[in-house]
Amino acid sequence: MQRAYAPYSDFRVGAALLCDDGAIVAGCNVENSSFPAGSCAERGALSAAVVSGHRQFTHLVIVTEAEEPTPPCGMCRQALQEFAPLLDITSMTVSGAEARWSLADLLPHPFTPHSLHHP
Ligand code: THU
Repeated sequence: MQRAYAPYSDFRVGAALLCDDGAIVAGCNVENSSFPAGSCAERGALSAAVVSGHRQFTHLVIVTEAEEPTPPCGMCRQALQEFAPLLDITSMTVSGAEARWSLADLLPHPFTPHSLHHP
């Protein structure tokens, strides 16, 4: 979160993915003056994990300075479920509030790799 580049929203987000081998890979949001070109912390962590050879994840932790713990956005839910449909997600605030969800509950009817198959 401290490394987030968020000059437009001033909403800094940190994300950490726990991989099946115990590795922890971090990400932060990286905004852009062309707003849609920015990326969320969760997808940043996912890209960093995949590029370092990790594809299996058990837990995602998100941290923000918001008043309440915030869940991952819809695009990040979709990106994460490709690799970890049952991912445990903990969201924390810097003041210590915490919420937990399963990705399966946050994205109940995902488009999956299987959805692409046709006769
Ligand atoms: N953002 C994240 O990084 N993760 C989330 O779960 C929600 C939103 C970022 C995107 C943008 O840089 C800023 O927070 C405000 O939406």
